[in-house]
Amino acid sequence: MYSQTEKQRYDGWYNNLAHPDWGSVDSHLVRKAPPSYSDGVYAMAGANRPSTRRLSRLFMRGKDGLGSKFNRTALLAFFGQLVANEIVMASESGCPIEMHRIEIEKCDEMYDRECRGDKYIPFHRAAYDRDTGQSPNAPREQINQMTAWIDGSFIYSTSEAWLNAMRSFHNGTLLTEKDGKLPVRNTMRVPLFNNPVPSVMKMLSPERLFLLGDPRTNQNPAILSFAILFLRWHNTLAQRIKRVHPDWSDEDIYQRARHTVIASLQNVIVYEYLPAFLGTSLPPYDGYKQDIHPGIGHIFQAAAFRFGHTMIPPGIYRRDGQCNFKETPMGYPAVRLCSTWWDSSGFFADTSVEEVLMGLASQISEREDPVLCSDVRDKLFGPMEFTRRDLGALNIMRGRDNGLPDYNTARESYGLKRHKTWTDINPPLSSPRRLRDADRICFENERNGIFYSRGDRRAAQDYPLGTS
Ligand code: HEM
Repeated sequence: MYSQTEKQRYDGWYNNLAHPDWGSVDSHLVRKAPPSYSDGVYAMAGANRPSTRRLSRLFMRGKDGLGSKFNRTALLAFFGQLVANEIVMASESGCPIEMHRIEIEKCDEMYDRECRGDKYIPFHRAAYDRDTGQSPNAPREQINQMTAWIDGSFIYSTSEAWLNAMRSFHNGTLLTEKDGKLPVRNTMRVPLFNNPVPSVMKMLSPERLFLLGDPRTNQNPAILSFAILFLRWHNTLAQRIKRVHPDWSDEDIYQRARHTVIASLQNVIVYEYLPAFLGTSLPPYDGYKQDIHPGIGHIFQAAAFRFGHTMIPPGIYRRDGQCNFKETPMGYPAVRLCSTWWDSSGFFADTSVEEVLMGLASQISEREDPVLCSDVRDKLFGPMEFTRRDLGALNIMRGRDNGLPDYNTARESYGLKRHKTWTDINPPLSSPRRLRDADRICFENERNGIFYSRGDRRAAQDYPLGTS
């Protein structure tokens, strides 16, 4: 009976039975290289280094609209944001908030047009474990507020209470509006992030947001489209399971659909996204390895995987059912990202998820280079008092916040040779393999009692449900 199959927890605990906390919510980020806090314990690194906005203006400013050199699409770029959100959330402020300033140079073209010379971008240090950061033996360690596993926490959240607000408790489905196409709005006031909408410069009601599992999902229409796609996939699977097993309870159908959605997500990330993103495939799976730690490293979180930010396009195209590109009401061919921050719910009034995904798939991503497009480098959303920020400057600040060492020290810590020239740079990556092989509940692990047959594993790639 399916109800006797193990149900994966939402908070990531007990995936590894010998180390039940591995990969769980609120674990430390993993420190693989020595920290370089300026006091050796917790103070931000780089107190004497230049302002990160200055660095961003020097190294990350460039023309918008230069296309990917490898024909990568905008769909791939934004799927990267899904992958990041699925495994890490470690940049949110702690409590009480620790404020720092990113200095802005006089006459900065974006932030100080009147040449007053008294402007700065606010920066909040990330939440950390309060038992750390008290001595050089135990430097500050930031925490990951998502599970490190690819376990659908992006879709189902990391807590059962939150997830229960999303469930219909009827035939295993998640709540949607009447036509089943969009999730319900957040009238229950689940604590989704609700940044002020920069285009109107004020906070809007949290009840307008779509109720989804990750608090960040209403940030932009592309990431929102992916979340809705997976929610629909869950409900589609639930309907199919109900047809095959009319006697199953709501809970059984829900858990079966959830397992298969997670398996689909693992399959797409590991075997489609990663090869397209990295240009190489992982070696064949040869089984679950219980001694591999799955935790997300500081260097991955604050630097390496933020590489995806260079591929973000300044706007997104939409295509209708006849494949025609759809113009905005003002006659523009694309919707600017900076006009949609935290306002995506209105966006879906005249646009469908399919139109967004078709548009993204037909659009080339920005070039893989140090340049960030202006919508995120100059016009990223911010807090109320400063509704536009610079993502490039934030990224470097986050590295200082986490006490990241310099690039060559980091390389040495990973057993790599120091680089002597810029052209030496070509880093091999191992963390995606760790995420797959260390996951006991991975869809390819035949011994986990969840996905035990070849047919089950195929279900992750190609449903209908078969005979399970
Ligand atoms: C429009 C698209 C995106 C926006 C607006 C965005 C914005 C942000 C912001 C505001 C942060 C936190 C910055 C901080 O305070 O430290 C962040 C973190 C991050 N981003 Fe993005 N991002 C986008 C796409 C991507 C993509 C495509 C990738 C990777 C392929 C990515 C990877 C990451 C990672 C790994 C983090 C650290 C996660 C965390 O600690 O919470 N992002 N992003």
